[in-house]
Amino acid sequence: MERLQKVIASSGYTSRRKAEELIKKGFVFVNGKKVVELGTKVESNDEIVVEGHVLSVENKEYYLLYKPTGVITTTSDEKGRKTVVDLIKTDKRIFPVGRLDYDTTGVLLLTNDGEFANILMHPSNKIEKVYLAKIDGILTKVEQTALRSGVFIDGFKTSPAKVKIKQYSKTSNLSLIEITIHEGKNHQVKKMFEAVNHKVVKLKREKLGIFTTTGLKAGEYRRLTLKEIKKVYALRGE
Ligand code: URA
Repeated sequence: MERLQKVIASSGYTSRRKAEELIKKGFVFVNGKKVVELGTKVESNDEIVVEGHVLSVENKEYYLLYKPTGVITTTSDEKGRKTVVDLIKTDKRIFPVGRLDYDTTGVLLLTNDGEFANILMHPSNKIEKVYLAKIDGILTKVEQTALRSGVFIDGFKTSPAKVKIKQYSKTSNLSLIEITIHEGKNHQVKKMFEAVNHKVVKLKREKLGIFTTTGLKAGEYRRLTLKEIKKVYALRGE
């Protein structure tokens, strides 16, 4: 059960403030009945009609962006920097699912479907995120073990990570490490490597659950297929 104005806003139809105005003015019907109470709760299968438009999945949009560096993961920035939403041509009020740092690249989903985003971000669903991190130096066996069993970042112990050494270059003294986690704390991967005294110089999210950047170049995006959307919904409540 969610508040009617929130459901209208998260459908992308309008802002929450405008949705409240429309409700108060009597332009919103739930299952055929006019609703003017702002606190009204609705269920996902309720039929909501706003100004004669039925809110439905037809209003929902789902994108997979290969986030390039140099864009921030928010819907707007007070400093006027380019955001991930600016990269996608749509008139819907989409938002990013989770966050990637300004200098991190890789898989980022954007949608105007709040429930879809919640499924992907809810910790209990343990969606795997695979990152490719370029770090300075060599990750010793002891450091690998530390990352695999969990390290302390900001007073929180990370869950066991999967760690694979992909490459080491003697000339540059840089290593390429694949690290898989399911949590999403702020700057988590960078802080995990910091905890074992390595600096991340480059970071890409290769995979988020079933999603990868395959077929896309940095800055490009595509719509999700219905099959992919259904696969995410199938994770609900597990
Ligand atoms: N971990 C980080 O440190 N940065 C990101 O952008 C994503 C995960």
